Amino acid sequence: MGKSILITGGSQGLGRALAIDYAREGCKILAIVGRNLDALRKVEEEISHVSPETETLTISADLAVPQDLERIVAVTLSKTLGNLDVLVNNASSLGATPLPLLADFTDGDFVKVLQTNLIAPFVLTKKFLPSLIESMGSVINVTSDASRNAYPRWGGYGASKAALDMMTRIWAAELNELGVRVNSVDPGDMNTALHRAAEPDLDPKLWADPADVTDVFVYLASDESAGVTGKRLLAQSREWMAQFLSPHRLTIRNRARRHE
Ligand SMILES: NC(=O)c1ccc[n+]([C@@H]2O[C@H](COP(=O)([O-])OP(=O)(O)OC[C@H]3O[C@@H](n4cnc5c(N)ncnc54)[C@H](OP(=O)(O)O)[C@@H]3O)[C@@H](O)[C@H]2O)c1
Repeated sequence: MGKSILITGGSQGLGRALAIDYAREGCKILAIVGRNLDALRKVEEEISHVSPETETLTISADLAVPQDLERIVAVTLSKTLGNLDVLVNNASSLGATPLPLLADFTDGDFVKVLQTNLIAPFVLTKKFLPSLIESMGSVINVTSDASRNAYPRWGGYGASKAALDMMTRIWAAELNELGVRVNSVDPGDMNTALHRAAEPDLDPKLWADPADVTDVFVYLASDESAGVTGKRLLAQSREWMAQFLSPHRLTIRNRARRHE
C-alpha cells in the first residue's frame, strides 16, 4: 500500500485494529493519536512486529484542545514531508457515563463531545486538505447507528454523529472534483471500552471484535476505492463488497476468506 495514514483514537479499540491492519497491508507511515501515550506505545510495539518497515508516529493529544489539533497536523506533515494519503477520524467521546438524558447533560460535556467527535474531524480535514488534494487522498469518518436512531441517553453522541454524517456528504460533494474522497463507515456493535461504558448491562461477547470489521477501512484507504465518495458504509454488512468491489476482486476475497 505504501501510504501515509493518520488514525485518531489509535490507542485502543477500532483504531488499534485499524493501525495493525494498515501496517499489515504495507502502510509506510502510520500516525496514531490518543491521549494515553503508554497505550499508543503498546500499539507501536505491536505494529513493529506485524510490519517492521512501517514507521509509526505516536502523537499524544486531546482532540478537544485546539492547540493539540495544530500540533497533530504540524508533527504529521513534518514526518510525512507534507504527504498524507488517508485521514481516519475515528476517536469519539460519549461524554459522561452512565449516559445522561439530554436534560441532564452538562453544557461542558456537550461541547466536549462535539469538539472531539465533530469539530476535530472538521479541523483536521481542513488543515490536511492541501496534502490530501496533492495525494488524491481519502478521508474516513467513523459514524454510528446512533446518528440515525433517536436512542434515549445517546443525545450528545448521536447528535455529533448525525452532524458528522452530513458533514461527510458535504465535504464529499465539495471535494469530488479535486479527487479527494470522503466517506463514513458505521462499524456496527463492537466489544470496546466505549461500548462497554455505554451499555454496561449488556453482554459484550455478543459484539464483534474490532479486528473483524476492518476490511472496509482497508478498502477505503486503497486506490481500489478511487472515485467512491459521499457514501455511508456498514462495516459488518457484505453489501459494500457487492456494491463496490469488482466481481473479480469479490471472487478473490471470498476465496481468501474460505481459506482463513
Ligand atoms: N464500539 C462500538 O460498538 C461502536 C459502534 C458504532 C460506532 N463506533 C465508533 O467507533 C469509533 C471507535 O470507537 P471504539 O469503540 O473503538 O472506542 P474505544 O475503544 O473507546 O476507543 C476510542 C478511542 O478514541 C480516543 N479518544 C477519545 N477521546 C479522545 C480525545 N479527546 N482525544 C484524543 N483521543 C480520544 C481514545 O484514546 P485515548 O483514551 O488514549 O484518548 C481511543 O483510542 C468511534 O468513532 C465510535 O463512535 C463504535
